[in-house]
Amino acid sequence: MNTEQEVTIQSKFIEKVKEINNDKKLKYSILTMGCQLNENDSEKLCGMMEQMGYQKTDNQEEVDIALINTCCVRENAEDKLYGKLGELKKLKEKKGIIIAIGGCMMQEKHITDKIKQSYPFVDIIFGTHTLHRFPEDLYNALKEKKKIEDILDIEGKIYEGLPIKRDSNIKASITIMNGCNNFCSYCIVPYVRGRERSREPRAIIEEAKKLAKQGYKEITLLGQNVNSYLRVEKEKNINFEEYEGINSFATLLRAINKIEGIERIRFVSPHPKDFTEDVINAIADCKKVCKLIHLPLQSGNTKVLKEMNRKYTKEQYLELVEKMKEKIPNLTLSTDIIVGFPGETGQEFEDTLDVVEKVKFEQVYMFIYSRRVGTPGDKMQNQIPEEEKHKRFDRLKQLVESQIQENNQKYLNTIQKVLVEGESKNNSKMLTGRTDSNKVVVFEGSKELIGRMVELKIVSEHMWYLKGEF
Ligand code: 5AD
Ligand code: SF4
Repeated sequence: MNTEQEVTIQSKFIEKVKEINNDKKLKYSILTMGCQLNENDSEKLCGMMEQMGYQKTDNQEEVDIALINTCCVRENAEDKLYGKLGELKKLKEKKGIIIAIGGCMMQEKHITDKIKQSYPFVDIIFGTHTLHRFPEDLYNALKEKKKIEDILDIEGKIYEGLPIKRDSNIKASITIMNGCNNFCSYCIVPYVRGRERSREPRAIIEEAKKLAKQGYKEITLLGQNVNSYLRVEKEKNINFEEYEGINSFATLLRAINKIEGIERIRFVSPHPKDFTEDVINAIADCKKVCKLIHLPLQSGNTKVLKEMNRKYTKEQYLELVEKMKEKIPNLTLSTDIIVGFPGETGQEFEDTLDVVEKVKFEQVYMFIYSRRVGTPGDKMQNQIPEEEKHKRFDRLKQLVESQIQENNQKYLNTIQKVLVEGESKNNSKMLTGRTDSNKVVVFEGSKELIGRMVELKIVSEHMWYLKGEF
């Protein structure tokens, strides 16, 4: 059976569940953990749920089906899952709701074993390669009142044409590839999301054009390793159609840049080792591609980077940054950093601080190293004590915050192009939007501006946001 046929079968299950529900307007909730890829998967789950006749709610008391889309990149997600299951158990006892858990954590056997043993009231468990089959799983759970476990270890395929209900009508994300082949030694992703495989150029362009038609202004291209888009296909001579001249990440950027209506293009995450000249040139040439580039550093020390299997040195990272700054006017950078990787000495950690000082990132996402079962990092002997990891984290945080404060000054009294996203969460009289460099700007203005690109004068800075005037 090909993927198209599989998707058709699922649309039949969507109809069957809808029939069972018989217009009862049942409600569902969804808790999404982790990265933007997971959020995009959740939008697909929501799309299926709504087609099956369910309505979304944030009020746990009125829920008929509770969905959890899990992440397993760090340990704290596990604590969050078990906490949530504790709450849902009471609801299950009270009104017999259905509980379904999916996503990355479900690809880990020690986790599913624990759930089956300690949380036997969970109805459906599904993995990252079986998301498209959720209607069938739900149908079987409803009809046959049995526990469903639908997890595949083999390579997942790419399923086009799944329903989707997006969270925003201004910004949308498009997953351009699944999986990862890099095996950074701290990271669980390659084990739970499988090998790298890219979507067909035509499917991506059609999705982007459809979004433009619907009025979306910003598109974020998603993948674990976006700048190796179509690399595996080319290396292994896997057939793909070179649609609109697209045969690489750079040509994909150029093609999306031509789509009328789209005003901004972002992408996460690229890998520094694959940041080739053609991608840098495409970013420089394409007006719509935002000049904030996320460039995960992970560590600033060459020995630690080697242990992490990152395939670049401190110097190579800094050279890449210099080259990008030279070629891309108004470039800003954000990054990911892990502190306390096994064996990292105090001296080696200083190198991370040194790179942060040199590059002056716009934003730094900081993480304390978390041992992940099955990864090489977990088996390393020289784990860093928790207390030491926290000390290093606090030092890095201090440096980053002082840099952000300093960096914010450069915005004062400048005019910034801001895509207006909606009302401010804390003050409904104010609007909020983002600059090209992804800074939040809050300002007073009429609601008609929502969804539009406006020019604002920045009048004050407040660490995590700027204040602007229309
Ligand atoms: N511990 C801490 N942080 C991690 N990341 C990935 N794996 C781990 C881990 N085991 C971080 C990396 C990555 C980001 C998405 O999460 O910095 O870029
Ligand atoms: Fe994990 Fe490295 Fe792949 Fe990113 S590139 S998903 S950090 S293995």
